[in-house]
Amino acid sequence: MKNLLFIGDVVGDSGCKFLRSKLRNIKQDYKIDITVVNGENSAQGNGITPNSADNLINAGADIITTGNHVFRRKEVYPLLESADYIIRPANYPDGRAYGKGLCVLDMGCYSVAVVNLMGTAFMEPLDNPFTKIDELLNEINTANVFVDFHGEATSEKKAMGHYLTGKVTGVFGTHTHVQTADEAILGGHTAYITDVGMTGPENSCLGVDSKLVIDKFRFHMPVRFKEADSSCFLCGIVVSFDEKSGVAKSIERIIIR
Ligand SMILES: [Fe+2]
Ligand SMILES: [Fe+2]
Repeated sequence: MKNLLFIGDVVGDSGCKFLRSKLRNIKQDYKIDITVVNGENSAQGNGITPNSADNLINAGADIITTGNHVFRRKEVYPLLESADYIIRPANYPDGRAYGKGLCVLDMGCYSVAVVNLMGTAFMEPLDNPFTKIDELLNEINTANVFVDFHGEATSEKKAMGHYLTGKVTGVFGTHTHVQTADEAILGGHTAYITDVGMTGPENSCLGVDSKLVIDKFRFHMPVRFKEADSSCFLCGIVVSFDEKSGVAKSIERIIIR
């Protein structure tokens, strides 16, 4: 039995620092074998940079997933092309998108595949994520497959969870930054949660200073978002799985303050 830790969207410098201060203990307490962190908001002012990706890896992440903010900072493009450990949604149309949407981690006696996908409901109309995961599953040679499904609509995320039941070890939603309480093992095989939540300033709107977000909704004028100045929390899940069959045995939500 192996344990995978998945941590929801890390926001800004304060989120990266908080992750660094907590991750070592979480890994020890839960006997974690693999750590996956969503880093699409890890740079100051949103997106991901080589520097913020470094912060996540130095904090203890093995694989970094992303989402709709992945291409916001141009300085990360070369890293997306060269580094295996950082992935972006696989269903960006072919031709222009830097990087790739699949990472396979060789753990010695077993391997783990992590796929990043993005929803298309209330988001950019990327290629169909259901079609894309079918293509990828044909290529993947391990039973241990984990999907970060970065989406807005709970219905689309639930549908993906049920679609992949029995085909992958876990489907974890990200993007809304609010942890949902619907974690489950679907079909006795697939760990699922609609949203893992976020890591960063807790007293905020999704990590951002609430005043700025309120102004945005009130006045509809452009606003430069900045991280909230509050104490941080960390949201994640721990999944125990049988690495020979790829069957998830348990999923546990964690929130650390
Ligand atoms: Fe995010
Ligand atoms: Fe997002």
